[in-house]
Amino acid sequence: MSWDALYSSAFDKVRGNIGKVGGVLLAYNTNIDAVKYLDSKDLERRVRNVGEDEVLRYSDELPEKITSLEHLFGGILWSVRRGKAAELFVESCSVRFYMKRWGWDELRMGGQVGIMANLLGGVYNVPVIAHVPQLSRLQAELFKDGPIYVPKVENGKLRLVHPRDFAGDEENCIHYIYEFPRGFRVFDFEAPRENRFIGSADDYNPNVYIRPEFHEHFEEIASESELAVISGLQALTGENYREPVETLRGHLEILNDKDIPVHLEFAFTTDRTVREALVDLLGKFWSVGFNEVELASIMEVVGEDEIARKLLTHDPVDPVAVTEAMLKLAEKTGVRRIHFHTYGYYLALTAYKGEFIRDALLFAALAAAAKAKLGDVHSIDDVVKAMEVPVNERAKAVEAALEERYGMEKGIADVDGYQLSFVPTKIVERPKSTVGIGDTISSSAFVGEFALRP
Ligand code: AMP
Ligand code: GLC
Repeated sequence: MSWDALYSSAFDKVRGNIGKVGGVLLAYNTNIDAVKYLDSKDLERRVRNVGEDEVLRYSDELPEKITSLEHLFGGILWSVRRGKAAELFVESCSVRFYMKRWGWDELRMGGQVGIMANLLGGVYNVPVIAHVPQLSRLQAELFKDGPIYVPKVENGKLRLVHPRDFAGDEENCIHYIYEFPRGFRVFDFEAPRENRFIGSADDYNPNVYIRPEFHEHFEEIASESELAVISGLQALTGENYREPVETLRGHLEILNDKDIPVHLEFAFTTDRTVREALVDLLGKFWSVGFNEVELASIMEVVGEDEIARKLLTHDPVDPVAVTEAMLKLAEKTGVRRIHFHTYGYYLALTAYKGEFIRDALLFAALAAAAKAKLGDVHSIDDVVKAMEVPVNERAKAVEAALEERYGMEKGIADVDGYQLSFVPTKIVERPKSTVGIGDTISSSAFVGEFALRP
């Protein structure tokens, strides 16, 4: 069967079975994304006003957080020059005010939890319970219709209500997303790839603030769930990680006691101590998702510097190095599923077997292409529109390497008692925007897999 035929059959199977999936618990980060598509003349003018030399210094070395306009523009140029995503906390009120006045083109749902809630609940019609640190009116309006719930406690009793029915009037947590296309030119720089720089003007998500409803009623909330996805730990630091990580440990114990499979959506975590703490907890997760930079950052923590280096030197990423990294991590931590995604292909290493694992990856790749093409996916029928996007040609060499090394057939191989599943993805030439594609991939593949389980 060709990859196109496998794609089409995987989509039909997931569409037919997704209704079987019960509640998915999503925690912890939800925010508002204020998306601005950068204009190079405007950007150059603003950089000159602030002082070009100082800004350029930060475009060489990313500051830790944003406390000045030089940091803000340095961060944006850092991303543009490399075509890489970056996210920094905006501490200064005057910079927050400047960003607000600079404005945005679109307000969108943000944070892994918010994006996954709208996709799973609002598009796939899978019931979800979401942790939303602050429910402002604007935040609530960004939730789609559908079986999306947040816990509300009245007279000590827990109810699950749609975020709009929570009727909250809490703070706005705004992340300013500065998007640029491939080839975007500013001063002497040219973006090698489309991507974005994020400045988070938000005191809740970066600290992983956890709502009282979740502290006090987690057991009951978990009882309403069949699956869980944890995200939003990426901005923690050596100073503030202890308390949220302890709360997470408690939540994982409850979920493990109830046999609820939990996926960790790993995002780039700069602090090494936090990465170490997450590796220590990995055995309590069923599944974890990474891109190449994130997987390399974990290899460094477990003392595999040579593999980390290999992961970052090839384009497309060397699939044998990825497989070696996944095997090391599975052996070390006992996590049962590792999902790797990069530009052009995905791999999954699982401690269990079946074609449904590969088929869920194919479904996820279609959803990702739909998201890249349309910016927002409105219905499951939008996902099938991505069938017309061609399968990435450059993944042929990746597939050949896996066939030669592991005897892979139709994207499936047996490696040291694990199953390795591979799919070439569909790449949209001119994506509408890049933010949230990773979340679309990971949640579609994880939930899709549970829809297809025999
Ligand atoms: P992350 O690296 O977590 O932000 O996720 C980005 C992922 O989105 C990449 O690993 C790719 O698999 C996917 N992706 C990025 N750009 C595109 C595109 N233009 N078309 C399809 N998939 C894309
Ligand atoms: C991070 C950002 C958020 C964005 C999300 C997309 O969580 O903080 O603003 O929506 O990534 O994946």
